[in-house]
Amino acid sequence: MSNHIETKCIHGNLDFSWDEPTKAVSFPIYQTATFGHIGLGHSTGFDYTREKNPTRQHLEEILTALEGAYDTTAFSSGMAAVTAVFDLFAPGDHMICSEDLYGGVTRLVNTIGKKNGLMVDFVNTGDLDEIKRVLRPETKALYIETPSNPMMEITDLSACAELAKEHNLLMITDNTFLSPYLQNPIALGADIVIHSASKFLCGHNDTIAGFVCSAKEELAAKIRLIAKTTGGCLSPFDSWLVMRGIKTLAVRMERQQENAGNIARWLTEQKKVRKVYYAGLETHPGYEINAKQARGAGAMISFDVDSVETAQRVLEKVRVITFAESLGGTESLITYPMKQTHPDVPKEWREKLGITDTLLRLSVGLEHVDELIADLEQAFVS
Ligand SMILES: Cc1ncc(COP(=O)(O)O)c(C=O)c1O
Repeated sequence: MSNHIETKCIHGNLDFSWDEPTKAVSFPIYQTATFGHIGLGHSTGFDYTREKNPTRQHLEEILTALEGAYDTTAFSSGMAAVTAVFDLFAPGDHMICSEDLYGGVTRLVNTIGKKNGLMVDFVNTGDLDEIKRVLRPETKALYIETPSNPMMEITDLSACAELAKEHNLLMITDNTFLSPYLQNPIALGADIVIHSASKFLCGHNDTIAGFVCSAKEELAAKIRLIAKTTGGCLSPFDSWLVMRGIKTLAVRMERQQENAGNIARWLTEQKKVRKVYYAGLETHPGYEINAKQARGAGAMISFDVDSVETAQRVLEKVRVITFAESLGGTESLITYPMKQTHPDVPKEWREKLGITDTLLRLSVGLEHVDELIADLEQAFVS
């Protein structure tokens, strides 16, 4: 077993003498829906792939090691993972969420969550007083993104965990933006960590997947029951693709983050850029808290430009960078949050947060940083 995250990305918590029967170096894809029974009441431990599959199980063990969790369940998307966590709650339960969240989660809350009787308050979770202000006897959970999508707001995870403990709340953290390479919310007191593995974990813009990592046995059992019952499981082939992606997570995150730091600093000097949102800049209000709880600021930057025309020109003129949704892969992507990731967030709410028609979000990939900067430069002036 290793203490180093680079090794865990490849071997999880496995003992190096681990005995996959064929000794295959690349874990086999068990492309099977069902498993034969040895006899009545005797199973190999695998019965039906919706519930358990060796390839998916191997991947889940790697995530458990990376997040320091008790157990991990893999889902067919990040949203399937979020939905499974929402299924823990009953009508009348109340949840407090970060107000700046991936727009798909806001949509889930405002549509299916509401229909199912879940009550939610969205607040700036970076301010503990705001959380305390909306606490009620029915409050069951705190749902946090840090850095948040797309405004890169930072929430103090240890402080929230303390508050959650005091009020008997489940603390849920979406760790998609930093990945377990840069941040481990369970070590800071979170009960559940969610990932859209479609992003940095898989890392190649070619697979949709999600994870729920549980800190405790009882919670893990509830999530496994929900997964088995509702059926949003990750396929064996996609499990293998995510597993392969994670092998290079450490080196990808390091280089993507280095590129992002250089681009963020360059953006702050551009006349057409009004504001840069990146927690790695010392001027970011969450810089110190992020530095205390994470091992870096990651590879996501949002920035506000001087006009809608500039925003439109940048989106249309970039060539090395692709104008597309999503993030975290080897290819740099630029997104227009107002229309692509957050169209279902009400306009007044978007505007309060700063998700306006001049906001762009950049996921920095692995291309040479000079070419990425040159691409943005030509897009600003052309
Ligand atoms: C922070 C965050 N969480 C969850 C999701 C949902 O994940 P998926 O697209 O894999 O369903 C996304 C998607 O963009 C995201 O950015």
